[in-house]
Amino acid sequence: MKIGIIGTGAIGVTIAKKMVKAGHTVKVANSDNGDKLKTRAKELGAQPSSLEDVVNNVDVIILSLPTVAIPTLPKNIFSNIDDRVIIVDTSNYYPFRDAQIEDLQNGKTESVWVSEHLGRPVIKAFNNLLAETLLSGGKESGSENRIAMAIAGDDANAKKIIAGLVNDAGFDAVDSGSLENSWRHQPGTPAYCTELNKEELRISLDKAHKEKAPTIRDKAIKDLGSRTTYPSHQEIIEFNRNLFTDKK
Ligand SMILES: NC(=O)c1ccc[n+]([C@@H]2O[C@H](COP(=O)([O-])OP(=O)(O)OC[C@H]3O[C@@H](n4cnc5c(N)ncnc54)[C@H](OP(=O)(O)O)[C@@H]3O)[C@@H](O)[C@H]2O)c1
Repeated sequence: MKIGIIGTGAIGVTIAKKMVKAGHTVKVANSDNGDKLKTRAKELGAQPSSLEDVVNNVDVIILSLPTVAIPTLPKNIFSNIDDRVIIVDTSNYYPFRDAQIEDLQNGKTESVWVSEHLGRPVIKAFNNLLAETLLSGGKESGSENRIAMAIAGDDANAKKIIAGLVNDAGFDAVDSGSLENSWRHQPGTPAYCTELNKEELRISLDKAHKEKAPTIRDKAIKDLGSRTTYPSHQEIIEFNRNLFTDKK
């Protein structure tokens, strides 16, 4: 497939690497459009692109941006893009990073807000695994305890196509329902960055609590930030899992 990725941070770069490795053609764009982007794209085996062009002549566009950056994308960036092009949102809202976004503070599902800003349907995917998990935790299809990723959206066919890309990246895909339902794998939920297999992920999606999630999210960031040493990847996964052990 032809894939355009906007954002070349931890997640955008990792998705680009995986998609190139799986044989897809990838274009990347970020807020720069200069030599740094060219160098990064070359390292990835992808094409460097402007924000205006990264959306052209592709089957899938992946937005891998901080939530706060979504409204800063060029106006009408998608207006000439065919409706069949699938837009994927990987973002997670963190008030400490993304500032106070009133609709999200009031409980609007993050990717619904993104979709409204873009004026286009989106599929939420690649948001509930850490970049390090995405980079190193993939396995062949059918492997025991393969880690699963949640995918939400309102278009079953689009979800099927994105599930194929998730499989290419080395993960099982679990359909988490409509885009509205994607709050079930936002930060502060048991499905968020806990490295679960597909059976465990389905159970965790069901256990999510919408009203409690923002408080758990903010407390988790505070607790992790107050540590004197930076936790290892495995310690972060254990920490996230322990937020939801029955004794808490
Ligand atoms: N990191 C994770 O483990 C993880 C896991 C799952 C989901 N996510 C979510 O995925 C999103 C991306 O995360 P990340 O960790 O990859 O972020 P990141 O490392 O901060 O990278 C963000 C990228 O977005 C680009 N960008 C920012 N504003 C832009 C704009 N206005 N126009 C174009 N490009 C812009 C930046 O461009 P420059 O390079 O030019 O600055 C950068 O390449 C976030 O919402 C995050 O919450 C992250």
